[in-house]
Amino acid sequence: MEPLPLPMDPEETKSCCAAAYGRDAVALLLGESYHPGGLALTRLLATRMGLRARDRVLDVACGPGATARLLALEPGARVDGVDLGEHTLATARAETERAGLSDRVRFLRGDAERLPAPDAAYDALVCECALCTFPDKAAAASEFARVLRPGGHAGITDVTVAEGGLPDELSGLAGWVACVADARPAADYSALLAQAGLATVTTERHDGALARMIDRIEARVRLLRMTAPERLVAAGVDTDALAPYLDAARRAVADGRIGYALIVARKESG
Ligand SMILES: C[S@@+](CC[C@H](N)C(=O)[O-])C[C@H]1O[C@@H](n2cnc3c(N)ncnc32)[C@H](O)[C@@H]1O
Repeated sequence: MEPLPLPMDPEETKSCCAAAYGRDAVALLLGESYHPGGLALTRLLATRMGLRARDRVLDVACGPGATARLLALEPGARVDGVDLGEHTLATARAETERAGLSDRVRFLRGDAERLPAPDAAYDALVCECALCTFPDKAAAASEFARVLRPGGHAGITDVTVAEGGLPDELSGLAGWVACVADARPAADYSALLAQAGLATVTTERHDGALARMIDRIEARVRLLRMTAPERLVAAGVDTDALAPYLDAARRAVADGRIGYALIVARKESG
């Protein structure tokens, strides 16, 4: 994949990340859901959060909206998705229209660090594979707390790193992997949420989901190379350049240096 220029400041980091996830290559390699564990892990997150029909749910950094559509169907929530990426939001709206869910799901352009929502507007909030990308995580966490009603739950799934940060061989990859360069240990995410008034009630490791996502990307690349190499070329995927990074990521998961965590935190009732 053609590298994007490495971001220089927080605003540039955010728009670089949003642009990266708006690329055709990402949809081609990841499918409809842009996080490890896919919709199966989203279902588990919804269960752990105790989501109910008609709950008002905010999906922060919603990507192409697969999670928002799922939660509108199971358990029948009313969902708003917020993302920074224009192209991503256009895809999310089109897919939601096609699924006949536009009356239950809507999408807004906005920044997780300045959410376009009033105080206490939501019963629940999800943020999957995105907190790690936000330059000002404390600001995002306090926005999560602000838009949740007292007693509401925030459900986070995200990339984690062991103390010491991302392995060198991964931190060098420009573009969309640069988005995860600021991933933290799970305990640090909980500490950020706690500082914002969100007390962690559940933490689970799902490192296997990350390993399976790496395997799935590799399998998709292999299949596309055999059946439709022109799609890889059109999407700008340089398969030779990608292979060593996938190997390095797989090693890092196996060594416990990167992983994936599920965290549910509850807003204090005040
Ligand atoms: C790894 S994708 C995850 C998308 C979705 N949550 C999912 O799991 O399929 C990260 C998403 O975060 C969005 N994003 C990055 N920074 C953001 C910010 N500051 N505010 C809102 N969205 C942001 C990107 O545009 C991208 O869609």
